[in-house]
Amino acid sequence: MDVLELIKTRRSVARMKPDSVDRDLIERVLEAAVWVPNHRLTEPWQFFVLQGEAKRRFAEIRRDFRRTALPNPDAPEVQPALERLYTETVQTPTIIVVTAFVAEDAETREEDMWATFAATYALMLGSWSFGVGTYWRTGPLRDYPPFREFLGLPADRRITGVLYVGYPAEIPQKRRTPPAEKTVWLE
Ligand SMILES: Cc1cc2nc3c(=O)[nH]c(=O)nc-3n(C[C@H](O)[C@H](O)[C@H](O)COP(=O)(O)O)c2cc1C
Repeated sequence: MDVLELIKTRRSVARMKPDSVDRDLIERVLEAAVWVPNHRLTEPWQFFVLQGEAKRRFAEIRRDFRRTALPNPDAPEVQPALERLYTETVQTPTIIVVTAFVAEDAETREEDMWATFAATYALMLGSWSFGVGTYWRTGPLRDYPPFREFLGLPADRRITGVLYVGYPAEIPQKRRTPPAEKTVWLE
């Protein structure tokens, strides 16, 4: 697939097959992801690839965090949704947590976030080039202390996203505004 086709056909894949994704493939994609543009070559990213027991622990953390948002987390009627969240997480073949170093200087901090975004997108595109789908999730889970403790993150490191990775069971359809409506040509 050429690069334009790769960019256009990539979708966020929520439904994945249970088939595992080879470590070798993940390593190749990570190898490409670190070549994104990065002002001053700060290389602010660090990736955590969760498999096996680590993925189960993350699934517990995700479920526990969801419980904190519920007025009555022990109510019988909310248990199926909590269990579903846990099971869906455990059944995701690979989960990659992307983190970024939080620089003291405001401008570097901002640029490092952009560069880390680029690395994450490169992970998504690189995976897609092998037919592997991804789903990028953010949200307040990123600041949940048990999640940070699980990864052993120091205070100067921010979780920028959790990437769910696996072969698609279904590729959703999405739409985009034609770029002509978002582009100004100046001469
Ligand atoms: C920075 C960033 C954060 C995102 N966080 C979430 C999220 O927390 N939950 C979610 O369902 N999708 C999240 N997404 C995925 C978007 O919802 C998705 O990219 C969008 O619907 C467009 O679909 P597509 O990726 O298939 O083109 C995020 C995407 C980006 C770039």
